[in-house]
Amino acid sequence: MSLPKVTPPGPHRRHRRGGPEGAASPCRALKASWVLAAGVLCLPVNRAVADEEMYKAKNCFACHRVDRNHLAPQFKVIAAKYAGAPGAEDLLARKIREGGVGVWGNTPMPPQPQVTESEAGTLARWILGLK
Ligand code: HEC
Repeated sequence: MSLPKVTPPGPHRRHRRGGPEGAASPCRALKASWVLAAGVLCLPVNRAVADEEMYKAKNCFACHRVDRNHLAPQFKVIAAKYAGAPGAEDLLARKIREGGVGVWGNTPMPPQPQVTESEAGTLARWILGLK
């Protein structure tokens, strides 16, 4: 009285394995790319939120806050200082990656090599747009 012999793995089972499941994986990939596309399409809409998440994800939050001084000057005051200054976006993008000292005080900002050039540009634009 052994159970495995009573229910042999017949051709039916094999058929099921090769059938619907095999067809499901390209479908899943298609779904994934739709989710991705939807995310990209939504980005401009949620821009401010996305960059706020970026500054937290990229370690800026360790020292900076948007609207109060922490270990570093708050972003809103930085935005006010550079408001209307030509080339401010490029300057800040560079300083975000390279760090700096002496503009706001004697506490240095260390370089942030985890930030790519394009991310630094996004962050600089976001900071300058804060009011
Ligand atoms: C370890 C602390 C620390 C971290 C982490 C940090 N900063 Fe700073 N940041 C500072 C300090 C301190 C200053 C002021 C430097 C000065 O006086 O020149 C500063 C200055 C700045 C400035 C103004 C630069 C200028 O020349 O006026 C910007 C913009 C800035 N930080 C953005 C960022 C962004 C974006 C991140 C994350 C990618 C970040 N910081 C991460 C400490 C930090």
